[in-house]
Amino acid sequence: MTAPPMLVSTKKARVWRMPGVYRPQEDSFLLAQALREAGGSRDARVLDFCTGTGFLAVTAAQLGAGSVTAVDIATRAVLTARFNARTRGLPVRVLRGGLDVATRTGPFDVVLSNPPYVPHEGGPADPRWDAGPDGRCVLDPLCDEMSNLLSVNGFALVVHSGFNGVDATLDRLRRGGLKAAVVARQKIPLGPVLQSRVRYLRHAQLAGQDATNEEVVVIRADRTRPSDNVDCAPREGCR
Ligand SMILES: C[S@@+](CC[C@H](N)C(=O)[O-])C[C@H]1O[C@@H](n2cnc3c(N)ncnc32)[C@H](O)[C@@H]1O
Repeated sequence: MTAPPMLVSTKKARVWRMPGVYRPQEDSFLLAQALREAGGSRDARVLDFCTGTGFLAVTAAQLGAGSVTAVDIATRAVLTARFNARTRGLPVRVLRGGLDVATRTGPFDVVLSNPPYVPHEGGPADPRWDAGPDGRCVLDPLCDEMSNLLSVNGFALVVHSGFNGVDATLDRLRRGGLKAAVVARQKIPLGPVLQSRVRYLRHAQLAGQDATNEEVVVIRADRTRPSDNVDCAPREGCR
């Protein structure tokens, strides 16, 4: 039997969630807070890539975005995000797909993303959070594509774990001609998924021997000028 839909109480909103859709949590809240602090979303064309329930898309629309496009690969997430936007009367366009769909519908003044980023040893993967051996299977292509997704003077806010390597994200974004910096950090206790991966994280040297917390970071990237396309090879271990 399928579990009933749930109402998730977040710090700023209650969003409906179909079973199997990622529940907004600390990483989602940290990114939403970074968006509020960044300002600049009024009248902006906003992309929420990897939208899940649409929590960030709804937040951007409530902050006065001119238009919001939300993209997710999972049908249940798309249906959930549509429901959460429509029941609030918010103009959010929700599309099913990946980075190619996002790129085709851009450029955007603001790009938000809380992608899957949990390092995964192999075997069955959960696309809500698992993202290859170093957790960068969605992050890296997103960073490489960011300069094409953003309009000139646009900015992106991307959240992920310190276990994924913050410098790797900053380097990739800068290689695409963007300015990039960490704008928010929060230490949180390891959740059940990461706890079950601690041995792997240590073995892969993604975490130290005493890892009981993870640091979640929000990285901001700014496109200040037209930039060249970056052509990057597909990554090993990614589906
Ligand atoms: C960590 S959840 C974040 C959900 C939401 N943004 C939030 O903060 O609550 C990641 C989401 O990315 C989606 N996803 C995974 N791989 C994707 C891909 N290649 N392209 C688009 N969406 C993807 C998953 O279905 C999931 O809904």
